[in-house]
Amino acid sequence: MLRLQDKVVMITGAASGLGAAFSRAAALAGASVVLADIDDAAGQGLAEALRAEGASAGYQRLDVTSEAGWETAMAAVRERHGRLDVLANNAGIALRGSVADCSLADWQRTLDVNLTGVFLGCRAALPLMRAGGAIVNVSSVYGQVGGAQVAAYCAAKGGVTLLTRSAALHGAALKPPVRVNSIHPGFVDTPMTQGALDLPDASGTTARKRIEGMTPLGRLATPDEIVGVFLLLASDEGRYITGSQFTVDGGLTAQ
Ligand code: NAI
Repeated sequence: MLRLQDKVVMITGAASGLGAAFSRAAALAGASVVLADIDDAAGQGLAEALRAEGASAGYQRLDVTSEAGWETAMAAVRERHGRLDVLANNAGIALRGSVADCSLADWQRTLDVNLTGVFLGCRAALPLMRAGGAIVNVSSVYGQVGGAQVAAYCAAKGGVTLLTRSAALHGAALKPPVRVNSIHPGFVDTPMTQGALDLPDASGTTARKRIEGMTPLGRLATPDEIVGVFLLLASDEGRYITGSQFTVDGGLTAQ
């Protein structure tokens, strides 16, 4: 029996990075995967590639900030599958800026995608989880500790941390329960980080070198190294886990 055999799993931000790794892992674990994103070409391409490998996978365009978009996406899931077992609220953006220089537009956009998108996702998924389910919210170590240059990102990811706990308490009272947990990655080598990683700062050091120096395990994570926790939380192996924060950061926040 595969870990997600016959489960219907929807993943937002599925076209790239962590979302693509979660989608592939869920497909290999036997799930019917709904890949949701705004990058239609990459999302459709990955869904096609997974189908070519024998998996059950389909692409659904979804801007997570759109209430109407969630209604349309969930109507499509209901129509095709009749239910949803797992939702990974993974879509996110990272705009840099300290509390002193973050523009209101960047603040608002970050909260819209990284926090409101997660709220809309949890709310939209619950009616399709009447047979129970699991919601996995992708927060960050920056939802647990501060980073001076990522004020809006920290505010949004910190919001996801406690929204997860609130939703978990609601979900625990449902019969059968819906479990809700958050994952807190440290630095992961994905398109989100890659753009900035290899640019040297004034002293000639790259962000990659600085992160490697800060991280006890001495390197960034690969997306596949976050997959194990996702599969645990999404599958029945995690059936007694709810309202929990799973940090996967190479020891970064242990210091
Ligand atoms: P990525 O940039 O590789 O992928 C993000 C995906 O989200 C893209 O496919 C993008 O099209 C999609 N997306 C963006 N806005 C969207 C919207 N409004 N609606 C639907 N989809 C949208 O990023 P990565 O690194 O894979 O990040 C995934 C999640 O992991 C994010 O929530 C991020 O904040 C979080 N994270 C990433 C870390 C890292 O170091 N890469 C560390 C900690 C957390």
